[in-house]
Amino acid sequence: MSRIAYVNGRYVPHSEAGIHIEDRGYQFADGVYEVCEIARGNIMDMTRHLDRLGRSLGELKILWPMDRKALIAVIKEVVRRNRVHNGLVYLQVTRGVAKRDHVFPSVDTPPSIVITAKRTDPHASAARAAKGIKVITVPENRWERVDIKSIGLLPNVLARQEAKEQGAQEAWFVDPDGTVKEGAATNAWIVTKDGVLVTRPAESGILRGITRTTIFDVARKMGLKIEERGFSVDEARKAKEVFMTAATTVVMPIVAIDGESVANGHPGATTLSLREAFFDIAEKTPSC
Ligand code: PDD
Repeated sequence: MSRIAYVNGRYVPHSEAGIHIEDRGYQFADGVYEVCEIARGNIMDMTRHLDRLGRSLGELKILWPMDRKALIAVIKEVVRRNRVHNGLVYLQVTRGVAKRDHVFPSVDTPPSIVITAKRTDPHASAARAAKGIKVITVPENRWERVDIKSIGLLPNVLARQEAKEQGAQEAWFVDPDGTVKEGAATNAWIVTKDGVLVTRPAESGILRGITRTTIFDVARKMGLKIEERGFSVDEARKAKEVFMTAATTVVMPIVAIDGESVANGHPGATTLSLREAFFDIAEKTPSC
């Protein structure tokens, strides 16, 4: 079965889908994106993802490409046409196509929109979670507006590549004082010896992850305490458990930082129970 993409009003074969060479996303990374998980035929936390899309668009003064109800219908249709039961939906909106010029094009320039869906293997993800993954640390070198889910991801790309070259799966951006910001495409968490979940406040310096927000709901239901505060790499090294969250990985245990084992080198019980409970508590929108 061939994949189908939605591009500016048309459903097209994925292999033939394209955008104009003067799309501002292509030339300036002048756009935003969202990634939603599809689990067992449901789009997870779609309301929160679309709320954050609206915020990102608003911060950059990019118009909605269509109204929210229509957008939900198109997302579902892309998932349906690609017959994705477990996987990811990717959605990208840019400021549209215009002759190259840094200033915004005229207000009647329509934003560009691309939506794709792909299958992922839940068993492979579960197997990764059963083992845990490794992170490295890299100096924070991103702009201050990482709260916007911008498609400008060069530092994130370089950090992930560095992780890969060092045999790890994620890179944590770290401030000069040793405080952990977040991963290249994930939020960072620890569990203290007292069983308290710690994650950095999302008011600035990180992306307010949707999975992160839903984990607050999960923790509340499980009676776990969360402290929203910065933590250092050193504290993470000594923590009882370490994990990361994102739509692509849900809750993923971390068992090594910069080549040294953490949390006894094994996924922790709290991390795994959060992962398990996530699917029950997250909002589920049937994809068809
Ligand atoms: N990344 N921080 C960064 C920098 C991210 O790029 C992401 C998501 C997150 C987690 O956000 P959420 O829980 O909403 O997925 C945190 C997506 C998945 C990506 O770029 O593929």
